[in-house]
Amino acid sequence: MTSTNQGIDTNCMTLTRFVLAEQRKVPTATGDLSQLLNSIQSAVKAVSSAVRKAGIAKLFGIAGSTNVQGEEVKKLDVLANDLFINMLRSSFTTCLLVSEENETVIEVEAEKQGKYVVCFDPLDGSSNIDCLVSIGSIFSIYKKTHNDTPTVKDALRPGNELVAAGYGLYGSATMMVLSTGQGVNGFTLDPAIGEFLLTDPNMRIPSRGKIYSINEGYASLWEDGVKAYVDSKKYPKTGKPYGARYVGSMVADVHRTLKYGGVFMYPATKDAPKGKLRLLYECNPMAYIITQAGGMATNGKINTLDVMPESIHQRAPIFLGSKDDVQEVMDMIKQHS
Ligand code: AHM
Ligand code: MG
Repeated sequence: MTSTNQGIDTNCMTLTRFVLAEQRKVPTATGDLSQLLNSIQSAVKAVSSAVRKAGIAKLFGIAGSTNVQGEEVKKLDVLANDLFINMLRSSFTTCLLVSEENETVIEVEAEKQGKYVVCFDPLDGSSNIDCLVSIGSIFSIYKKTHNDTPTVKDALRPGNELVAAGYGLYGSATMMVLSTGQGVNGFTLDPAIGEFLLTDPNMRIPSRGKIYSINEGYASLWEDGVKAYVDSKKYPKTGKPYGARYVGSMVADVHRTLKYGGVFMYPATKDAPKGKLRLLYECNPMAYIITQAGGMATNGKINTLDVMPESIHQRAPIFLGSKDDVQEVMDMIKQHS
């Protein structure tokens, strides 16, 4: 049987189909993770639709409250958070949720509980919402390892215990990038059929890139090693300087880094000695994806995925991307400390 008919792929690999096929490879799988990933997929589709019509639906602007980090909460953030929480809760596969927008963990009602713990940032890059620059959703998934009532401890685990992670990117197209520990795959939303289609199978990050990505406005607040590294890319002793790119939306900056190579950095600054980005739902999922794609992610000292979290909204410095580039940053930091 042919798989195209009148220019239409009649045998396309949707995200749902892909996840089901992966599940089939594990004889002991119950299907719960597939169900959970489906609920995340629905949340991402709904957020995407809201993002696309935000202007018309008057979803821009500030919702009138501040989140636990003391930042302004935008209307779309609230909507995205509600969507994620409701989809995850009703999937019957989760027991504990950690959201950037909620101060404490959310425990799922006993009758709806499953074995998974999900940490997520429902809408990351909120400063870019009103000006139509790319934004995204980030998630990571742990499996509860006991049969007792879930507690915050079930979320306070290093990233190397994750069973899956990924992100949705609301850019010039909507994409979902996912890893369940067997490499990284990218799916683009086809709005005509409302399905994510496999467009970027087995994504691999180049071992070296030509781009550095960091908020250079804070250069005077960086440690010497980071300054020296960025200088070495701007004024190289040999070869061409690196290009600079910084969207200010982690999902967009990490996605570009994954596709083109290079390094994304959000280091500690004098003002923010632990950096800005949150370990559980920003650094860890991205570190997991980049590592699964053959790259590297560190907090400047150790692999991000080895950091033992102490609190759910904890921040961590992050340097991630092409292996050789990240190694170079690490070496410079070591040299200057
Ligand atoms: P948010 O969770 O409030 O949206 O903040 C996270 C965002 C990241 O997407 C991005 O990498 C970073 O903040 C940019 O911060 P800065 O403006 O300090 O460069
Ligand atoms: Mg965020």
